[in-house]
Amino acid sequence: MDIHMLDTYAKSLIKNAAFDIKTSLSSELIIESKSEANDLVTNIDKETEQFFIEHIKTDFPGHRIFGEEGFGDDIKDLKGYVWLLDPIDGTTNFIHQKQNFAISLGIYKDGIGILGYIYNVMEDTMLSGALNGGAYLDDMRLPKLQASSVEESVIGINARWVVPNRYVHHEGMVNLLKIVRGTRSLGSAAIEISYVVTGKLDAYTSMQLSPWDIAGGMVIAKEVGAIVTNLAFEHLELLDADSFIVSRPGLHEQLLTDYIKIK
Ligand code: IPD
Ligand code: CA
Ligand code: CA
Repeated sequence: MDIHMLDTYAKSLIKNAAFDIKTSLSSELIIESKSEANDLVTNIDKETEQFFIEHIKTDFPGHRIFGEEGFGDDIKDLKGYVWLLDPIDGTTNFIHQKQNFAISLGIYKDGIGILGYIYNVMEDTMLSGALNGGAYLDDMRLPKLQASSVEESVIGINARWVVPNRYVHHEGMVNLLKIVRGTRSLGSAAIEISYVVTGKLDAYTSMQLSPWDIAGGMVIAKEVGAIVTNLAFEHLELLDADSFIVSRPGLHEQLLTDYIKIK
């Protein structure tokens, strides 16, 4: 498989899908809730995933697709080529704000991320990365991230992890909030990862993310030297939901050692 051809193909598919998403903003959305009242999906999430699947299955019949909305394959392993797709990451933002949502895509071969994309639809920016090929914001190559201290950091974190919850000891999170320079919560894991990659955030953490939220971002983040693990310092397997952190080097270890303690 020619990686440059695959990269060109994936970028073109993403841009075409984004064009359709933008066009849809002028018509009324059909909104449903999934597992919980705040877990939303729209007809556009579904149509976008179907758009990717139709094209990928026609043009790469041997490839499998692991998509959030379930129109792809039943994935139990990452053998061969697997496309991990979140057609709209930040659906709540898509519905409420009509901004700050992204298409998130990772292409993996035998479990190794070879291409990754986070396309911020309303900003029209393509963050991409290729294994050992660097990370790019559109055509601009991104520099490696430098280390930073907790005190000088701005961290992406959702307020729900700072109150009692079933995933993380909130006392450590409160201590973290007291010491960092600032926190932000953007409502799209993919965009928050893209902020770490481009240096707008120093770290981003979540207690529960799915493979399609992070697969694309992981490929890109590694290319700028960011450290990506779950909150037990382990490699992410990308088959089930898991905790997550992406961070500048150095900061990652300090955050996990001193502040973020999973239950
Ligand atoms: C969600 C967003 C959100 C994160 C949730 C994800 P969705 O994805 O990335 O920021 O906190 O855990 O499920 O549902 O908008 O694709
Ligand atoms: Ca998502
Ligand atoms: Ca989604």
